[in-house]
Parts: sequence; structure tokens; C-alpha cells
Amino acid sequence: KKVVLAYSGGLDTSIIIPWLKENYNNCEVIAVSGNVGQGTELDGLEEKAIKTGASKLYIEDLTEEFIEDYVYPTVQAGAVYENQYLLGTSFARPIIAKRIAEIAIKEGADAICHGCTGKGNDQVRFELAIKAFAPDMQIIAPWRIWDLKSREQEIEYAEAHNIPLKINRETNYSKDKNLWHLSHEGLDLEDPANEPQYEKPGFLEMGVSPIMAPDKPTYVTIHFEKGIPTAVDGVEMNGKELVTKLNELGGANGIGLADLVENRLVGMKSRGVYETPGGAILYKAHEVLETITLDKETARVKQYLSIKFADIVYNGQWFTPLREAMSAFVTETQKTVTGDVKLKLYKGNMINAGVTSPYTLYDEEVATFDEDNVYNQADATGFINLFGLPIKVRAKLEQKRNAK
Ligand code: ARG
Ligand code: SIN
Repeated sequence: KKVVLAYSGGLDTSIIIPWLKENYNNCEVIAVSGNVGQGTELDGLEEKAIKTGASKLYIEDLTEEFIEDYVYPTVQAGAVYENQYLLGTSFARPIIAKRIAEIAIKEGADAICHGCTGKGNDQVRFELAIKAFAPDMQIIAPWRIWDLKSREQEIEYAEAHNIPLKINRETNYSKDKNLWHLSHEGLDLEDPANEPQYEKPGFLEMGVSPIMAPDKPTYVTIHFEKGIPTAVDGVEMNGKELVTKLNELGGANGIGLADLVENRLVGMKSRGVYETPGGAILYKAHEVLETITLDKETARVKQYLSIKFADIVYNGQWFTPLREAMSAFVTETQKTVTGDVKLKLYKGNMINAGVTSPYTLYDEEVATFDEDNVYNQADATGFINLFGLPIKVRAKLEQKRNAK
């Protein structure tokens, strides 16, 4: 038997290797790590996987595809989960699971295994994407079937099986890191009454607390072509470079922290703190550009679809006809979302500092308080009479009934 394991090198996926061998007839375990920009977490991973008992490790560089094909379409949709969460973990799962499914098929594997708990969203996201690409593949989710009940028991199991551990990281928050974001869950954060320790050294990894940020603002100008960011301060960049650059600028200025109690797909509420410095800048800049490039009705429809789009991404329904149809709508709206947005970054704030577009619908001649010759103020009388007709009819009825 051959099992392909979604592997990160953390405690969970490390002990899963010997556990699989013990419980599935000494099966071959092929480890796969999808690189979506988690950086140093990948160092030494191959050696570790082999030492732990895997027959080989695939490290798949998915970073550019992650940004271009998953992150940018979601930014274009303006999709934010429950008003705050920029979906950093959510859209990383489908891309990783897709690649794992492809590798499992290529390797002729009998099953795919992942280390997500039975209480979270990630299990759903992984498995929906696997079903989309390998519909008949067996899925093994050890957390839902083994008797290990706590982190302590996991550590004991690891020690009994000679698995190398980096304890200081493992005793930390439950984190998920990629190029777009870093999430923190667990420990003191499990009680929403507790304030996150933003100023404590080592808590934030992608930037600083607004309190520690410089007293002088940083200006940044982002250029968009059809809703896709293509340059920062006049320098053209691919997705990976651009997000990296904005993470630096945003992180240094305390931008992009979110702290929320969110509704998980599996029914419970959970508390998370997120760092998305570059992402927050991109959402803001894109939104500002749309204020001048989209007409009102398109913007309205797009805005209410954005809530559904965020749910779809959060729920792991990336590879569905609905998501594709909604992306097609979003792409159509982005035809004119080209231009430059300047923002002033200052202690966690993003302040508008100017927007321009060759497609701007903002017409100074129409909007001006000075004299103009395109807008006839007398037209407003008839407009208001018709727009206000239902209000007038109702008020007259009230009058009549009160007179009785
Ligand atoms: N709550 C967030 C989400 O559902 C973050 C999950 C983080 N995942 C993890 N394995 N640490 O998208
Ligand atoms: C997990 O439970 O595996 C991580 C958190 C989540 O999936 O929501």
C-alpha cells in the first residue's frame, strides 16, 4: 500500500508517518509539501521527512500560482470573510490539495492522508479539493480515528518513535504561514476576553504592532492593470515579488492585523489573530481604484456577491461551478480597473493619498460646485417628484385616516 501525505514537518504530520506504517501494514509513505511561501519552515524538511520514515519528499513550488490564480482573483472579488479575515489559509488549501491529488494519481497511490483535526475548516478544504481531482481516492484523516487526544500524547508518541521535534515552535500557538498571511490560534487567544500580546517579542512575525511603528508615514503607489496589481512605486513586479514588497512596507507600519471570533464551517466559533500586511494594502488600494472605475450598479452587485465569494473560499468550494461563474463575473468587471492608487501608511492606518485612472468615471465637470453646463439643476425637480411619489402617497393616506 502507498499513501501520499500532506506534510508540513510539524508535530502532527511528523507522527502521522510512523502511525500510518503501524496501522496500514507498513505502507510506503510519500510526503508532499506545497510551498506557498511559508519560507524557513521548509528548511531541512527533506532530511526530516526521510528520518521520520517517508520514502521521499516532494516540495512543490506553488507560490507564484498561489498568488496569481487564487489570491488575486479573491482580492478582485473584494472577498473578506466576516468583514475581517483575508482568507490566507482558506485559499492555500485547495491549491496544495490539487497538487497532492495529482501526485497521488501519478504515483499510483492508494490513499491520501492529511493532518487536519476533525474540528476545523482545513479538513473540509483539503478533502473537497481532493474529491474534485481524484474522486475515488481513499482519504485518511488520523485525527478523526486515532486515540491521541492531546498535544502531550502526541509528543510522547513522537519521542517513543524517535521523531525529531522543534519543541519551542511546537509549544507555540497553532499557526499557519504562507506568503499572504500568518494565522495565530489557541493558547491564551482561545478566550476572546484576552488581548493579543502584539507588543510581546516573537508574537508578530510579519511586522510590528502599530504602537512600535515609525512616527513618520510611508507613501506607497500601486499600479493595477484590469484589477491585477502589477507595480509598486513604478517598479514592475510579479505576484511573488509584489506581495513580498508590500508585506515589508505594511509590516513595518503595523498594517493588516485582524482579531476576530469567526464562524467555522463545522459549526463552532473560534478566535483567530491574523497578520496580512501586504494583503491589507492590496484590498484597500483595489477598493479605492474601484470607487472611480466601476459604475454604481455594478459596484453594488459586486459588493453583495463578495460576501458569497468569501464564504465559498472559506468553505473550500474553490473548484466548483459557482466559484468559476462568479470569477467570470468579477473578471468582466475588472476590464476598466486600471490605474494608480497612492496610500499613506501610518501606524496601522492606510490613508488615501490620491487615485487616478484612464477609465475614471469621476467627472469634475459634473460634480463641481462651480458653474457648469452639463447638469441642469432644474431637472432635479421632476426627478425628486417621481422618486418621492410613494412617500407622498403614503403620507396623504395617513392624513386621510387620521382625519376620520
Ligand atoms: N481559522 C482560519 C481558517 O479557517 C485559519 C486556520 C489555520 N489553520 C491551521 N492549520 N493552523 O482559515
Ligand atoms: C485544524 O483544525 O486542523 C486547523 C484549524 C482549522 O482547520 O480551522
